[in-house]
Order: sequence, then C-alpha cells, then structure tokens
Amino acid sequence: MESPKSKLPNDSERYLECFRHFLKHSTQNQVMQDFIDHLLPDIMKIGNGTSNLNVIGVGSGCGDIDLKILSALHHKYPEMTVDNEVIEPNPQQLRDYRDLVSQTPGLDYVTFIWNEMTAEEFEEQWKENKRTKKADLIHMFQMMYFVKDPEATVSFFQSLLNKNGRLLITLYSGNIGWVKMLDAFSNQLGTAELNRSTDDIKRFLDSKGVRYQSHNLPAKVDITKCFIEGDEDGELMLDFLTQVLHFSKTASPELKAKILEFLHCPEVSVESNGKVLMNADSELIVLEQLT
Ligand SMILES: C[S@@+](CC[C@H](N)C(=O)[O-])C[C@H]1O[C@@H](n2cnc3c(N)ncnc32)[C@H](O)[C@@H]1O
Repeated sequence: MESPKSKLPNDSERYLECFRHFLKHSTQNQVMQDFIDHLLPDIMKIGNGTSNLNVIGVGSGCGDIDLKILSALHHKYPEMTVDNEVIEPNPQQLRDYRDLVSQTPGLDYVTFIWNEMTAEEFEEQWKENKRTKKADLIHMFQMMYFVKDPEATVSFFQSLLNKNGRLLITLYSGNIGWVKMLDAFSNQLGTAELNRSTDDIKRFLDSKGVRYQSHNLPAKVDITKCFIEGDEDGELMLDFLTQVLHFSKTASPELKAKILEFLHCPEVSVESNGKVLMNADSELIVLEQLT
C-alpha cells in the first residue's frame, strides 16, 4: 500500500485552480445553465402570495451559478424581492462572489447576506440564534463531498424549507466510471472520505423513506492532456480527478500508470476527434418540505 498523500482540498489555492481548470474543460457549467433555463422553472412552484423569496446557497463558490439562479427566479417572479443567504467558507471564493455581484448590473431586487463559514457552522449559529426563517429555495451544488455528516446536513437544510420550498443537491453520479475509479483506488489515493456520489445521498434518503426526485445532468470533460507526460494542464486535471495534491509528482509510477489506464478505459472515457472525453455526469436530487 502507498503512503498517504495530501488531499487536494487541503490546499485551497491549488484546489481552486484545479476546479477552475476542470470547469473550463468540461460542459458542467453549460449543463447547469440548461438546468436553470429548462428544469428550474418547473421545479420552482412558489406562489403562496408572498412578495419576497428566501434563497440559501450552500458552498456557493464564486457565485456564478448562484447569480444565474437568481436571474431565472427574477425572470419567473419579476415582482418579488429576494433575500439571498450565501454560505461559503473559502474567503477568496466569497471575495470573488462579492466582486461578481458588484460588477453585475440589475441585482437591485436581491439582498445578499454573507456567511463566511461552513454549512456545519451555519447550522450551529442558526440553532444558537433560534432563527425560524423558512426558505423557498436552498441549493447545494457539488459541495456535499466536504461536509462531515451529509445525512445531518441534508436533514437540517430540509427542515428549513417553506411549504412550497425546494432543496436542490448535485453531486457526481454514482454510475460514472470516474466515481468507480475513485472507489477502486481510494485506499491508495487516501481520499476515501471525499468519495461521495448521489448514490450515498439516495441511500440514506431511501432508508428513511424520504421522497425525492432525481434528474441526470450529463456532462463531459476533456482529459486529453492527462496523458501527456509533464503537461501542466494535465497535472491540474489529474489533481482534480484524483483529489490528490500534485498527484503526478507524489504517486508511484505504478499507481499513476494504473490510474491513467483506468481513465482511458471505455467505462470512463471515449475518444473523439483526437480528444479523450470523460463522462462527468452529475445527478440533481430535489427534496421538498418533510410532511
Ligand atoms: C466544488 S466547489 C462548488 C462551487 C459551486 N457550488 C459550483 O457548483 O460551482 C465546492 C465549494 O464548497 C465549499 N465548501 C467546502 N467545505 C464546505 C462546507 N463544509 N460547507 C459549505 N461549503 C463548503 C468550497 O469552499 C467550495 O467553494
């Protein structure tokens, strides 16, 4: 067995660089845009006579997806104002989000409430302050990998929903080869606790009999450069795909060869026009208020 390696999320600067690189070479944000344009308006069925919507974004990152959600809500409910509570522990991400807000015209219908903290800290403060505000929309996109107890976190945020409220969760789908690769090599990579997919969330929802809807969000990522020895872009991508800091430099040649072989197999990726395109489907889980 290999010695434990540093996990990528422990270095927030490198994590961010790798995540941005991954997004740049994937269709994930386009897929989210399609979801916001086509699925979200059907999922959101607010209309209980209120003039204000309460939205909570958990692990919002730099806010680009959040602002698209706000814009879609404004389009559907132009007369409503929005309280948008942002929960994001990374100071740089939160700064980027605030900068984006200040550079985006036409957000005068939104009041932003900034929480530089984790979802767990937010829950603690919420309970300490005995807050009772209910939310119409809570979203947790690609952040469940990082919470200590996903079941407790989902259960807390679901308890904040209004009668017609919706909690939206995305993670990578348990069906994709990338997630299977992380499972297969989790001991050698030392990243077992980061290996979560929607399967893990659905497992505890099913076991408690909690009803939910799910939608596949199909995406591809171009991983061609991972196969070019010493290529810096390839190394950024490999760090993100393995969740190991400086994977190429710290992994044994044997492990690196096995991972590259796995990434190239038909279960994980396809070759098209000289590019290696990896399946990076996410799944969206939609929860309603518990009755
Ligand atoms: C992969 S990024 C996703 C960003 C954005 N939601 C998106 O989909 O583009 C994950 C985000 O979760 C944040 N995060 C990490 N641990 C968290 C926690 N315990 N609670 C809330 N957010 C967390 C990270 O700082 C990061 O911004």
